[in-house]
Amino acid sequence: MDSPFKPDVLKGKVALITGGGSGIGFEISSQFGKHGASIAIMGRRKQVLDAAVSDLRSLGIPAVGFEGDVRKPEDARRVVESTFNHFGKVDILVNAAAGNFLAAAEDLSTNGFRTVLDIDAVGTFNMCREALKYLKKGGPGRDASSGGGSILNISATLHYTASWYQIHVSAAKAAVDAATRNLALEWGTDYEIRVNGIAPGPIGGTPGMSKLGPDEIENKAGDYIPLYKLGEKWDIAMAALYLSCDSGKYVNGLTMVVDNGQWLSRPRHLPKEAVKELSRVVEKRSRAKPTSKL
Ligand code: COA
Repeated sequence: MDSPFKPDVLKGKVALITGGGSGIGFEISSQFGKHGASIAIMGRRKQVLDAAVSDLRSLGIPAVGFEGDVRKPEDARRVVESTFNHFGKVDILVNAAAGNFLAAAEDLSTNGFRTVLDIDAVGTFNMCREALKYLKKGGPGRDASSGGGSILNISATLHYTASWYQIHVSAAKAAVDAATRNLALEWGTDYEIRVNGIAPGPIGGTPGMSKLGPDEIENKAGDYIPLYKLGEKWDIAMAALYLSCDSGKYVNGLTMVVDNGQWLSRPRHLPKEAVKELSRVVEKRSRAKPTSKL
């Protein structure tokens, strides 16, 4: 689907996207690039990075890949610095790197729990902290009139209620959302940096979906989640564009849910016709009852 945004909304901007070599991160990388941004992507796997960079370049997008693990503060620092050295500035940081697997809480080891918290929550914090120097108003490469840059954290809706076999990810994404709000407050105030998030629903064709919603589960989801519908990576990239270009200039501290309303979904416990009838009977009965004088 074509983008509803003008192709130059991110013209001249430099975006660093962790996990930018695949899935949602890659779609954000290519949409940001198609809208004028230069792209640095960070990931752990060299072949994935190389393939993604060559795809981006084939679209005419200035792109570079840096190997690194967001869990390691020294990698976070090196990659942010390399992005600055390569492109001369950093305007947008997107934290899309994440780890996930299905595991019942009772079968999850301390290290399993910690690993996902490390990638999602500590990794996001590491990247934000290292990028601060470049994103802040007046930072290296920023002209005086451009204010601060922006940060976008990819989250989830799992922790809004509770999710089966996802205690580690729910805890990690709750921490990511807390970081989004706290940094929005602190860095919005002190450095004019906007910090927002996106909480995607199930998105087709992503590593996350193939791990968490393999076909065996996917085919049945509509039966017990009435609003169930797969989203497209494009849906998330358009939300990312909205939050990262001037359209989002007054938005700070928001985690935007992009899931077709799915986290609100509840099985219908009564058909519509039945509720009409039942409700009248109940109302009649309640009016017929003598009211207490006490
Ligand atoms: N069920 C239960 N525990 C699991 C598990 C599973 N499916 N997969 C990994 N773990 C546990 C491991 O057993 C280990 O704990 P232990 O030392 O107590 O045995 C711990 O998690 C770390 O696993 P390890 O494989 O060493 O971590 P890693 O750093 O190599 O990989 C993952 C991290 C596990 C999150 C891996 O899935 C990954 O790299 N994911 C990135 C891609 C991804 O998940 N994308 C989807 C994003 S939504």
